[in-house]
Parts: sequence; structure tokens; C-alpha cells
Amino acid sequence: MTQNENIFFSSIEETLSKYIQDKGSDFILISHPTIFDIYKEKILKIFQEQNKRLEYVLFEEGEKNKTRQTKEIIEDTLLEKGVQKDACLIALGGGVVLDMAGYVAATYLRGINSIYIPTTLLAMCDAAIGGKCGVNTKFGKNQIGTFNKCDAIFVDMSFLKTLEEREMKNGLVEMIKHFLLRDKDLFFKFLEDENPMDNLLLFLKKSIAIKQEIILEDRFDKNLRKVLNFGHSIAHALESIYGFNISHGQAVAIGIIAEAILSHHMGYLTLSSLNIITDVFSKYLPQRKIPISKEEILFFLQRDKKNRERNIHFILLEEIGKVKCHEKYVSHPIDNRDIIVSLSKLEEAISCLSVQ
Ligand SMILES: NC(=O)c1ccc[n+]([C@@H]2O[C@H](COP(=O)([O-])OP(=O)(O)OC[C@H]3O[C@@H](n4cnc5c(N)ncnc54)[C@H](O)[C@@H]3O)[C@@H](O)[C@H]2O)c1
Repeated sequence: MTQNENIFFSSIEETLSKYIQDKGSDFILISHPTIFDIYKEKILKIFQEQNKRLEYVLFEEGEKNKTRQTKEIIEDTLLEKGVQKDACLIALGGGVVLDMAGYVAATYLRGINSIYIPTTLLAMCDAAIGGKCGVNTKFGKNQIGTFNKCDAIFVDMSFLKTLEEREMKNGLVEMIKHFLLRDKDLFFKFLEDENPMDNLLLFLKKSIAIKQEIILEDRFDKNLRKVLNFGHSIAHALESIYGFNISHGQAVAIGIIAEAILSHHMGYLTLSSLNIITDVFSKYLPQRKIPISKEEILFFLQRDKKNRERNIHFILLEEIGKVKCHEKYVSHPIDNRDIIVSLSKLEEAISCLSVQ
């Protein structure tokens, strides 16, 4: 059994200040200029007040910079600065920064201390949790990476005040996905809440707890943890096809509806549950029409990390709040014909797609 992360839910002026008080090490903050410009004063003040030295290394923002090349530049900068084994890396930013800084922390001098300050909702409920970190390659997302056990995570909701609506939606999709996988009551509680944004911290904590619970059972992504990938097989294919012209949340919303359709088509999820899921995630779909080619989707599905024995594998739902297992595995081998039929049904279910 592995320990859960050490998570602090309050303003960083309170929590981070206290945390660094008795830490004597050097602190090196990794972030990107956009986020650092907004929060520089807030962060520097905390370290000044505690008489702690803080250096920072910034890299250009965006998924396209989450690469091995950026990692090498950051590492060389740390080596040039003479950063030692007892230093602590601080990742300040969304999932891109956390994945990059986490990967650096896990491998620099064979591993140094790290703490995460997630600044997007998605990073709070997802990227900061569970230790996965890594970079993209020209062959796909997150193809190279490892696991990093960070020392603490600081969730401060005030960061969300400057976040764009599209980024909030990216986080909400992942948050609701956690309820969909594990907790029917919570899923409906969120739906029925007249103003869920007023209770965002409460829902966020529940969502994090679900991800942690799953990870505790499968820290190294051998089986159960793959359920977190529900909706992502199709989503990653769409992201590969559309590059950065579709947001992650929109791609996952389409992917969740598509994989719920597949779950129904394979005889598990009821039609009424499928309709509820379609309704919920339709709120997060792209506004414009997206043409998708079944062949192109299949091409990318063939490269999915869940695949085994040359079969395309999917996570399927048995009902809202429950994943259907296939023998001892959580993923199911699915025939290409069933995928094609489900993709055609997807076009009928959501109006933003035209399937060719
Ligand atoms: N390691 C994991 O388990 C895991 C899980 C999920 C996602 N991820 C990774 O996370 C990444 C996506 O993360 P993301 O959605 O946070 O994207 P991101 O890190 O690119 O941030 C999205 C945008 O929000 C801006 N931003 C961040 N915080 C802000 C704030 N407080 N105010 C204003 N703007 C702010 C950034 O500048 C950026 O433009 C992907 O690379 C994905 O692979 C990793």
C-alpha cells in the first residue's frame, strides 16, 4: 500500500508559508512566464517573509513545449546553478508545468524533493494527483516519463480566479468523469446542485479522493488505474488529429460520450444512463462542426497505450458510477466493427460532429 499525497487546501500564504518554515533547503521554482507574471509577487513575498532563498527557471508555456528538449534545458540550468540533492523543486502552473517539473524532480541527481502548486482546475483534480509525469514526443502525448512522489500539494482555489472559462471547463470534465467512474450519488449530486460552482471546493475534494483511491490500488498503472482513461482513447485520437485546435476538455467530453455509446452498444450501459451521460457532457462540446474520419480515429486508436495483444482496448461502463471489468482486466478488447458502429452513433448523438 502506498501513502496518499500530502495535500493542503487553503491559501498558500497560510499553508506554504508554514510548510517552508522548517525546511532549510534551496527552493527552485519551475513555471512559465504567463503564470509567473501573474503570481510573482504573491510567491516571492511568501519566501521573503520566511527568509528563504527562491530561484526560478521558466520555460515557454503550452503542450508543444512539454518535450525532452525543454527538460534538458531545465536540467542544464539547474546543473549550471549548482542545484544540489537537498534542493526542493516547486512546480507552479497547470498540468504542463507539473508534468515537466515532476519529471525533472524524479530524475535530477536521481531524484530530489518537489512540491506542486497546481493553478488550473484540471491540475488540481488530476495532473497533481498520482505521481505520473512525463513529456510528449512526435509519436504522441506523454510517451516518455516516470512516477514522481512529490512531498506536498498546495491547492489554493484563489488561483482559479484568473483562469479562462475554457480552462475551467477542461477541469470540470475530468472532475465529473471521476464521479462517473466511481460514485453514482456524487454524480447526481453534482448534476442536481443548482450552483455547483459555489460548492466547487467540496466537489474538488471528492474528485481528488476518488482518483487517490484508484491510485492506491494500482500506483504503477498496471490495471485498475487505467479506468481513469475512460473517454481518453477517443479524446487522444481527436487531439492527435486536430492538434491544438480542440481543447482537452472538449475532446474528453466527446470521448466520454463515444465510449459511453460503446458501453451501451456492447450490452452493458442502459440507454437511459447513456442519455444522461450524453446530456451532461454535451455542455462541454465544441460549438463548431468537427468532421471526423473513422479510419483516422482507428489509426490513432491502434497506438493507444491500453492496447494489448494487438487489440484495441477500451474502458467500458456498466452503469453510472461503475466500470465493467473484463476477466481480471479493466479494459476490454473491442473489434474494429463495433468501434465503427459506435462512431456512427456518436454523430447521431451529438450535433457538433460529422463522421465520414
Ligand atoms: N500527470 C498526470 O496524471 C496528468 C493528468 C491529467 C493531465 N495531465 C497533463 O496536464 C496537461 C494539461 O494541463 P492543464 O489543462 O492544466 O493545461 P496547461 O498547463 O497548459 O494550462 C492551461 C492554460 O492555463 C493557463 N493558466 C494556468 N494557470 C492559470 C491561472 N491560475 N490563471 C490564468 N491562466 C492560467 C496556462 O498559461 C495555460 O495557457 C497535459 O499536458 C496533460 O497531459 C497530466
